[in-house]
Amino acid sequence: MYKAPRGTVDILPEEQAFWRYVEAKAAEVCQLYGYQRLDTPVFEEAALFTRSIGEGTDIVTKEMYVFKDRSGKQLALRPEGTAPVCRAYIEHGMDNLPQPVKLYYLAPAFRYERPQAGRYRQHYQFGCEAIGDGDPALDSEVIHMACQFFTSLGLKELTVQLNSIGCKSCRPEYIKALKGYYQERAADLCPDCKTRLEKNPLRLLDCKRQGCQHIADNSPRSTDYLCPECRSHFEVVTEFLRSLDLPFNFNHRLVRGLDYYTKTVFEVQPLAGGAQSALGGGGRYDDLIEQLGGKPTPAVGFAAGMDRVVLTLKKQGIPVPPLPLPEVFIAHLGNEAKGEAVKLAASLRSQGIGVVMASGDRSLKAQLRQANSLGTGYAIIIGEEEIKNRKLTLRNMVSGEQQSLTPAELRAVLGKGT
Ligand code: HAM
Repeated sequence: MYKAPRGTVDILPEEQAFWRYVEAKAAEVCQLYGYQRLDTPVFEEAALFTRSIGEGTDIVTKEMYVFKDRSGKQLALRPEGTAPVCRAYIEHGMDNLPQPVKLYYLAPAFRYERPQAGRYRQHYQFGCEAIGDGDPALDSEVIHMACQFFTSLGLKELTVQLNSIGCKSCRPEYIKALKGYYQERAADLCPDCKTRLEKNPLRLLDCKRQGCQHIADNSPRSTDYLCPECRSHFEVVTEFLRSLDLPFNFNHRLVRGLDYYTKTVFEVQPLAGGAQSALGGGGRYDDLIEQLGGKPTPAVGFAAGMDRVVLTLKKQGIPVPPLPLPEVFIAHLGNEAKGEAVKLAASLRSQGIGVVMASGDRSLKAQLRQANSLGTGYAIIIGEEEIKNRKLTLRNMVSGEQQSLTPAELRAVLGKGT
């Protein structure tokens, strides 16, 4: 027996209404904020991700699906969407367009993580990137857009966590202070944090081990080390958020799991659940495009985890609109009736009316049971009687009412909207 690979799930037909709802809201919010859709390949050169996400990050060292193709090229399944969008921005000369260029995507991402509820090896992201402008108003707009997306879905009880991790000129001073602080407490650190202290000190603040919480909570704050430019940028972002009445929590431990961020970083988390179950996150990444071979180009963006959004919709009991069903079921009895049913189904479909025709040769009762479980509003019954009289029986599946109609009358009734 084959099974879906560990950490992946099938999205079954009964789940689809949730996904279509989330996708439709994403497209709606993008239209409101002026983002255009961009689809990039599922795989890219592995180096694109290694360079952008960072060599020392968990994603690159432990989670990326890397493989060689038949020509020996090192490729990787997309673990996130920002680097491919930046690659496409450079490749297609989008720096020649009016800036910022605003792009969004709905796409699967792949990370070899330890599977658990809301954490998969293939997950789906809705992301958006505003590339080509360093204006802090864009940071607050992206945060506002993320919140608008979640609230338009009906989600409640979310918090916005916000921090600024500075830029390449002020961050080294902060890292020095952070390392100094942790070195003094090295004896009390978990083994992972001892490695982080050497390899990637910012990740120390991410540690989930109980014993490290007190140390991380009281660690130096990046916002105390910002250069004047980063400080004033952060002040304007927070000022705009306040003017939008958008509540946020300043969280000095929020550093995000990808190395490309500069200045603003943020996450949207459920009130109960915390960082492990973030519904989305993002921030500014002013150096990334240049790092990937483009001109210096500031940018900001965010991505939401659609799987977690769907889980939260269900958890919060938020109803989603059902997907449209075919309007009509055609039941038939006998060979001649089946021939008529085939023609009628084709003709109704050409009129734009959704039809499911019974297959096989089951009893009328069994066929109507199927119509019931499909949820079609009407069933058309074609039997010997109907063939003889050149009429059809139209059954309203809700009221059980039946009427005998000519094909023309039937088309008129159904054409009026079922
Ligand atoms: P990220 O925080 O790594 O950011 O992922 C974005 C969201 O994807 C997370 O907040 C979470 O909801 C969801 N997610 C991540 N990993 C998994 C997983 N294994 N299973 C289920 N859901 C998951 C990024 O990827 C950045 N590219 C976001 C960004 C866009 N920053 C700037 N622009």
